[in-house]
Amino acid sequence: MRFPPDFVDKVREANNIVDVIAPYTQLRSAGSNFMGRCPFPDHNDKTASFSVSEDKQLYNCFGCKKSGNVFTFLKDFNGQSFPEAVEFLARRANIALPERDEDPREKRQRELREAVLTTNRLAASYFEDSFKKLPESNPVRVYAAKRGLTPEIIETFKIGYSSEDWQGLVKAMRARRIPLETGEKAGLVKKSTRQGGDSHFDLFRGRLMFPILAASGDVLGFGGRVLANEEPKYLNSPETPVFHKGRVLYGLDVTARYIRSQDEAVIVEGYMDAVALYGAGIKNVAAILGTAFTPDHGRVIRRMTPNVLMLLDGDRAGIQGAERSLPALLAAEIRPRGLILPEGQDPDDFLKEHGVEALREQMASAGDLFTLLLTRHWMADYRATAADRMAVVERAGAALAPAGPGLLQSPMAELFMSEMARYLDVEVAWVRKTLSAKISAMQNRAGSYGEKPSEKSYGPATSGPSATIFEGNVAPAAGNLSSAGGKDPRREQQIDLSGISREESAALGLLLQSRFLMSDLSEASKEWFSSGAAREEHPIAYLFDDEGSRKLIGNALRRYGQQPEAFATLAASLMENVAQPEILQKSLAEAALLFSTSQSDSHSGSAGDDSAEKHRRHMAKILNAIQRRRKQADLNRVSLELREVRGGASGERSQELMERYMTIQRELKEIENERRMFERGD
Ligand code: UTP
Ligand code: MN
Repeated sequence: MRFPPDFVDKVREANNIVDVIAPYTQLRSAGSNFMGRCPFPDHNDKTASFSVSEDKQLYNCFGCKKSGNVFTFLKDFNGQSFPEAVEFLARRANIALPERDEDPREKRQRELREAVLTTNRLAASYFEDSFKKLPESNPVRVYAAKRGLTPEIIETFKIGYSSEDWQGLVKAMRARRIPLETGEKAGLVKKSTRQGGDSHFDLFRGRLMFPILAASGDVLGFGGRVLANEEPKYLNSPETPVFHKGRVLYGLDVTARYIRSQDEAVIVEGYMDAVALYGAGIKNVAAILGTAFTPDHGRVIRRMTPNVLMLLDGDRAGIQGAERSLPALLAAEIRPRGLILPEGQDPDDFLKEHGVEALREQMASAGDLFTLLLTRHWMADYRATAADRMAVVERAGAALAPAGPGLLQSPMAELFMSEMARYLDVEVAWVRKTLSAKISAMQNRAGSYGEKPSEKSYGPATSGPSATIFEGNVAPAAGNLSSAGGKDPRREQQIDLSGISREESAALGLLLQSRFLMSDLSEASKEWFSSGAAREEHPIAYLFDDEGSRKLIGNALRRYGQQPEAFATLAASLMENVAQPEILQKSLAEAALLFSTSQSDSHSGSAGDDSAEKHRRHMAKILNAIQRRRKQADLNRVSLELREVRGGASGERSQELMERYMTIQRELKEIENERRMFERGD
């Protein structure tokens, strides 16, 4: 949100810059100013060249020339954005944030987020204390020491321990009068399902705890590592109102200042890797948490630096992660370099085996992530045939497609294309043509990251749904490469439903025929929006893989939000926005048929809720089918990878894949059970 200027002033006045900076360096009063060593890590100040003026509320370093006010300090030192700094300082001074145009639901959401943050903070210090209380000889401490977690590291990263006690945290929460329901929302405790049951129990037990903090110091969630060789190796907080895996990076509370001052972020794939690098003196590091790098990660990093070095585990997952991360990095206008570690090693292993100098050397010589992918992945079995040349460019196109067609207009893309032309020994023009054809073909099939929401906006600017999902039938930008073929421009603007699946078509019809379902989805969207969750988590994304259907429903939701009373004409009004009205007509007709038969089945005669329930049931069935298909695809993918890995050496990896395979199989079974339940119900 944008804060009104007088609110910003009030916050500025309530926070004495001297107190804000004091925790980071020792300040001594010297005349009208305070002087101390410059706290910025890139300065390494030996004399006291840093002055803070209480009168002017400014700081200035005579050595490194950095200067500014309390907001720029937090920005430069912690990587906080301006609105984050304002909010942080407001909270610090106990100033209530300005009344926003919140409806009661938004207010509840915000209060819930705040309650969860408080609970997390308590939990983090509970875990930290539990660790500190352990005697030196305790196996947990022994393990930590074996993993190279020095007392300084443990202190810096606030690493803790969750005891074996099933109610350790529960008791701590009770003592602090924190409602256990909030603990449930924070993903820390769970209600026992055993009868008699108002008893709660801890979810993290017997684990080494890594709290995941935002640059501001808010505790967003936790990762807990088992000490023995059990599964899962890491337990992470589930998605909560404040924790979104695809959005947070581990370590930033400690490392943001180094990322900023060194103007580069080293991104690794695990908690231990981040901590180990930091311990070895490579402090400008952050970790993704078992996901690929997302556009949201990109936006967080881009505020600090445009330079990223992806330090990837030397396994198949590493290179695949790189491939999925590339478009997100490019979409965030980051210039990524990449380094793949030797066979089977992660950064932590590499450091242990070869030492930090060897790693620094490798990092210094790391080339572009794009080139790494080109030479090590897309050209892996290249034999310079025409078919191979096509295949390489198409693989690159498929990987880049999520960055959107605008990508090819960028100067970076020019470089990539001429590089590919060199490697493949072909003309750049040919690369461009083939690449853009592949990208637009992919665009028609899948979603792109789309337009970024405005950098300035913080949280929802309006209470309307997000622009990325709801762009509907927006015309492509002028000069867009996909309009090259001289197609009818009107057609271009229309929503393409040609890629819709059977289940998706059914879901589309139901939604547009049922006021109940539309209103459910509309509510769920509001909730999603105020939770600040990632785009992939929007309820529409659960229903539709097909981009056309997403756009259409996004459009419908927007219209419905504006004029719920016009629901009856909603479907008809959408017809003209669709490139294939016959497809939409068919799904509407099928849904209508479904509703009418299920209505005549029941002679209960009750209206309203009863049919709402029926509609929801139909929808649940379709969602079940969609999930079944997705899980099946996951299963296939893992089983393919398993086959590949088994040919190789890494037993650990195949063990891990096997576990995953079994997990997915279990989930699939649950989905199957649900389906059977539906069938019995009919
Ligand atoms: P790794 O399996 O590479 O673990 O997972 P690691 O970081 O090297 O950990 P150590 O060295 O064995 O202790 C990389 C990251 O993937 C996520 C975690 O964020 C982890 O740091 N992960 C992994 C999970 O969330 N759950 C798991 O079971 C495994
Ligand atoms: Mn490791």
